[in-house]
Amino acid sequence: MKIKVAALLVIVFIPLTICQAQQQLPQIQQPTPLITNIDNRHTLSLDGRWQIIIDPYETGYYDYRYQPSPNGYFKNTKPRSPSDLIEYDFDASQQLNVPGDWNSQDQKLLFYEGTVWYKKSFDYQQKDGKRLFVYFGAANYVADVYLNGEKLGRHEGGFTPFNFEIAKLVRAKDNYLIVKVDNKRRRDAVPTLNTDWWNYGGLTRTVSILEVPDTFIEDYFLQLKKGSTNEFAGWVKLNGAGGNKTVTVEIPEAKIKQTITTDASGYAPVSFRARAQLWSPENPKLYQVVLSSGGNSVTDQIGFRSIETRGTDILLNGKPIFLRGICMHEESPLRGGRAFSEDDARALLTWAKELGCNFVRLAHYPHNEHMTRMADQMGIMVWSEIPVYWTILWDNPETFANAKNQLDENITRDKNKASVILWSVANETPVNEARTKFLRALIDEARKLDSTRLLTAANERHYSDPNTQVVDDPLGEYLDVLGCNEYVGWYDGLPAKADNLQWKVTQNKPLVISEFGGDALFGNHGDAGARWTEEYQKNLYEHQIGMLKKIPSLRGMAPWILVDFRSPRRPLPRIQDFYNRKGLISSRGERKQAFYVLQNFYRDLMKEGK
Ligand code: GCU
Repeated sequence: MKIKVAALLVIVFIPLTICQAQQQLPQIQQPTPLITNIDNRHTLSLDGRWQIIIDPYETGYYDYRYQPSPNGYFKNTKPRSPSDLIEYDFDASQQLNVPGDWNSQDQKLLFYEGTVWYKKSFDYQQKDGKRLFVYFGAANYVADVYLNGEKLGRHEGGFTPFNFEIAKLVRAKDNYLIVKVDNKRRRDAVPTLNTDWWNYGGLTRTVSILEVPDTFIEDYFLQLKKGSTNEFAGWVKLNGAGGNKTVTVEIPEAKIKQTITTDASGYAPVSFRARAQLWSPENPKLYQVVLSSGGNSVTDQIGFRSIETRGTDILLNGKPIFLRGICMHEESPLRGGRAFSEDDARALLTWAKELGCNFVRLAHYPHNEHMTRMADQMGIMVWSEIPVYWTILWDNPETFANAKNQLDENITRDKNKASVILWSVANETPVNEARTKFLRALIDEARKLDSTRLLTAANERHYSDPNTQVVDDPLGEYLDVLGCNEYVGWYDGLPAKADNLQWKVTQNKPLVISEFGGDALFGNHGDAGARWTEEYQKNLYEHQIGMLKKIPSLRGMAPWILVDFRSPRRPLPRIQDFYNRKGLISSRGERKQAFYVLQNFYRDLMKEGK
């Protein structure tokens, strides 16, 4: 009997590793440099209904020998005679909305993880002297993009934008843009196999065609220098024949006009001193900024504020602040599914404001750009994070390159958003050498790209004795702000345990409690000691607030979480039903008792001027 079992085990194991090896994706053409501020550029939206083909076996990509096929679905081949054998037809296939995940649009796809092919046809009259790009706000998780049967390239990472240049392939009529989107989870990916959020797949954000002149303003950065309230600094990058070109940077309302000249690569630094109203939650002042060069001009709405730390303080525009926060996932408040619209962003941030927040932690991945633009307008400071979550492959160079790319794209997109004050490189990662080395390299990368903001990570704490929690993660040495997740009263004892706990924070830096909380099903009532009841959650918040108030270096908090959200890790029937119920608001928008506990606490802080 024993020998047979061993033989059996070996057979099963070999095919699995081969599959995993096959899944490691071959190098394919990467997207072109990311173009920023799409919202204010000349675009043709491709949002709306797209045809789809659900392809769990990737029949549209691989042949029966599991080799990439030259005649895959990206060819959009039509039978030309009744004897032609074509086994797919986009135009007769199901349709889905873009932007939108597939899981919440079709019940049979709720749990679906795999490949879905998307097709959109469009006509386009090209103009002389113009270049064309196709821009994706995001696609979860791997997107292979084709235009008129030709491969444009591949993008990996479900939460950041990418674009490809297309003019050479575009024709006046019947262009077909085809995207293979695969949200299969992989061990070497970012995030990796296990997360506590729904793996929504698809073209989850806007898709558009961007038209620009031969030489155009590809990207720019303009913010106040760290710690300064009147020194502006940044740069402009032209794409095309950008060498030795004049660029003008104007802020008409502040009577600022700077003229700079690009170097051979099309890059020009800019710096000047000026007085401007500073952006803050109380006064979320945004200025119209106009950048122009040759025939191309781009307008943006940018706020200017300085953010820095001094000892255990966080200073906004030179003044100490307290971050009254809440965590949120990128789920549409009432519709469910991935949030993607301005209305979604406004609704979620309005709920956060109602709670008394001046700060939100956008967990655990970059949310759509409507969210950070709305935070700019509403005066809400933002913690922005990449999905280096739990235990990814720290020693895998591709995994690192992937994480770094997501960080680059996130910073590139949002570096001019005054609301974004913190870049977070990780959540709840295990303390070991390979991990710390991996994250240090990401921190260095972020500082290279953006010297104006603060770096953080949501780390964990441990006990030095039954009553003392210690925050001494070695990664803290490289961070500006120490983030710490703790679940005293839920995963760690009962709520009252918080009353006798001491905190020992070894690094002299600001501490932000980046998560605490407990589950409650709205409308489920009972004794405060009964889990899943609103009374238990309320009780937990009361004890938590009592404990946290006593921590000398505490400069902010972001309880877990604003709204109940879908999670494949939460099957408990009639209570969770695949929702994480730690929200202060239910998935139907109902406020739980704990909502008012936190609201009252934040009101008290506001009265104290915090
Ligand atoms: C973790 C994690 C969250 C998760 C939460 C929970 O700390 O960061 O993503 O949802 O705890 O368990 O509810």
